[in-house]
Order: sequence, then C-alpha cells, then structure tokens
Amino acid sequence: MNIGFLASHNGSNMQAIVDACTSGTLHAVPAVVISNNNSSGAISRAKQEGIPCYHLSAKTHTEPEELDQAILSALLQHKVDVVVLAGYMKKLGPKTLSRFPGRILNIHPALLPKYGGKGMYGMHVHEAVIAAAETESGVSIHIVDAEYDTGPVIAQACVTVEPTDTPETLAARILKREHTFFAETLQKITTGEIALPTEDK
Ligand code: GRF
Repeated sequence: MNIGFLASHNGSNMQAIVDACTSGTLHAVPAVVISNNNSSGAISRAKQEGIPCYHLSAKTHTEPEELDQAILSALLQHKVDVVVLAGYMKKLGPKTLSRFPGRILNIHPALLPKYGGKGMYGMHVHEAVIAAAETESGVSIHIVDAEYDTGPVIAQACVTVEPTDTPETLAARILKREHTFFAETLQKITTGEIALPTEDK
C-alpha cells in the first residue's frame, strides 16, 4: 500500500506512520509528502527520511483548479493507494476527492461527530471538550469528503479526560495515542480487517 501524505504543520503523525513502515509493523510505503507550508515540520521530516515531497499551495498555484490538479498529479505520479491527511488544514479539491473515493483518511483529535467541523482544530478541540466537562475524548479516523470532519468514521480510540487536565495536557495525551492508533488502523486496512467503503480508483 503506497501512502501519500498531506500535512500542514509539525507532521508528527506522518513521522509515526513512516516509523511504523520502517520498523515493519505497518506493511506500507510512504510514497510522497505534500504540504501547503514550505517551512512545515512535515516537509523537513520528509527530506530527512528521503521521501519525495512537494510544496503545493495557493502560493504555488493561484487557481484552485490548478492546485487541485497539481496535488492529484503528485499523488498519481507516486502511485498512491491511500491518502493520509495528517494535520492538513485545507480542503481538497473535487478532482482529488473523486479520484480517491473512500481512500482519503483524516485523523481528528476527538470522538467525532462531537467536536468536529469548521473551527474545531488544534487546541480549540480540547478547550471545548474540557469546557463541556467530558470525561472521555479520543481519536477518530474518518474518510474525507468535501466538508470538514463529516465523512464516515472508520476507527476510534478513547482517551480518558482526567479531572486535572488542561487543554494542553489532554492534547499531549491524545496526540500520543494518535501516533500509535493511525499506524495500527492503516495496518488493519492493509490486512482487510478494516474495509474502506470502495476499492474503486
Ligand atoms: C493532530 O492532532 C491531528 O489529529 C490533527 O492535526 C494534528 C496534527 O499533528 N488533524 P501533527 O502535525 O501530526 O503533529
């Protein structure tokens, strides 16, 4: 399974998945990294790992249709089977979405459908969870559609919210869980234990 990553910032989830491929716990190949942020940790990590990487953004392609095509072309050039959004802060265009139906995955640091959608990213998610006095939060991996965080959830892991948690401590504990859970989920996809909605490409 060739994985194509899209990431905007640190890329720690991408790194965890790459490490799982290297150690052999995940039977997949990190094929390409695309970032809208040329100074992102994701791009640095890709260079460090020797993974082909591209900066593709509204700066490199001013027309949204051209950007969509450039992203799709990079994924196709590197024979990507599954697209992983690992902290990617942009919406994908219709060409890319329709070329990979049911094969674009996103990770979200809460138990969707709660605490998802526009504006629910980063620390905002954990602040909302704590403000609502939830005792449980977690990690969701879902299929990507044209909106934020609305596609079908394929896997979830729970993380306890401790009474003493701040948004920062909860964020750190959830991110740690993300790092193991994303690679585990991808491995279950390679074995067929988790079936993606369609095999069409
Ligand atoms: C993660 O918390 C993920 O759930 C969210 O963005 C964050 C990305 O972190 N979608 P990193 O760039 O992988 O470190």
